[in-house]
Amino acid sequence: MTAPILRRLADLRAKTAGWRRAGETIALVPTMGALHAGHLSLVEAAKAACDRVIVTIFVNPKQFNNPEDLANYPRTENEDAEKLAPYGVDLIYVPDPDQIYPGGYATNVSVGGSTTAVMEGPFRPGHFDGVATVVAKLFLQTSADKAFFGQKDYQQLMVVTRMARDLDIPIEVIGCETVREPSGLAMSSRNLRLSQDGLDRAAALNAAMREAAAKASAGEPWAPLEAAARQALAEAGFGDVEYFDLRCAETLEALDTPSRPARLLAAAWMDGIRLIDNIEVLQLNY
Ligand code: PAF
Repeated sequence: MTAPILRRLADLRAKTAGWRRAGETIALVPTMGALHAGHLSLVEAAKAACDRVIVTIFVNPKQFNNPEDLANYPRTENEDAEKLAPYGVDLIYVPDPDQIYPGGYATNVSVGGSTTAVMEGPFRPGHFDGVATVVAKLFLQTSADKAFFGQKDYQQLMVVTRMARDLDIPIEVIGCETVREPSGLAMSSRNLRLSQDGLDRAAALNAAMREAAAKASAGEPWAPLEAAARQALAEAGFGDVEYFDLRCAETLEALDTPSRPARLLAAAWMDGIRLIDNIEVLQLNY
C-alpha cells in the first residue's frame, strides 16, 4: 500500500505531534523525487534507525542556479510513491510550494567557510544557500530526530551537517554510502536524462577516479594523475571536467598526496548533463 501523501505543513505537524506524544522517534529522508536505489537505501537505513519515516519530495527552485536544469528536472511523484510502497514509509510529504516559501518569504540560510568555498560552491553560485535553506526548513517542519543523506553529494552532506550544528537544530545528520550501477556510475536522478550510450560512457568517470585514487594511495603525486584522468575523460566523450580534486576529507583543503584522510571529488559534463561523484582515497602509508 502506498504511504499517505501530505501537502500542507499543518497536516504534517498534526501527524508528527501524535507520534511524539506516543514517544516515537522520527527519521527524515529529504529528496527531490525521481527516486532510485540510492534513495531507497536511505529509506532502509532510516527504517532501521527510527520508529517513523518521512520521505519528503520537493524540487527546490532556490538550489538551481540554472533555470534549464530546474525545468528539466524529472518529476515522477506517482512512480516515486509506488517505489516507496514496499518500504513501509509512514508518510510522504510533498509540500505545496507556499508551504516552503510562503508569500513574502525573505530568509536565506547561508553556510560560509571552507565547506562552500570550493568545487560546487563557485561552480554553482547560490546552490548551497538554496540547499541549506530548504533543508533547515525540512528539519524544522518535520522535527525529525535523524536525517539521512547520500554521500554522493559529499559537500552537501558537510553543508547540512554544519548548518544543523550552527543553528542548534536537534537532529543527527547521517551520511550513507553511495549506491552505484554495476558499471560503477553513481546513481543519480540526473542519469535518467542520459541515453544508454551516454550512461555507458559516463561509467568512465568512476573508473578514472578509482585509478587515480589507487595511484595516489601508492604515493604518486596528484597533478599528473589529474592530467591523465582529464585526458581519459575527454577520450570517453566527457565535455568540461569542472574539477577532479584530491582534498582533505574533513576540511576540503586541496592535497598533493593523501597524507590525511582524503577524498577524490569530481564534476564533469556528459551529453549536457552534469555528473558528480566522490570516493574515499586510502591514506598514504609512510
Ligand atoms: O540531494 C537532494 O536531493 C537535495 O539537495 C535535497 C537534500 C533534497 C534538498 O533539496
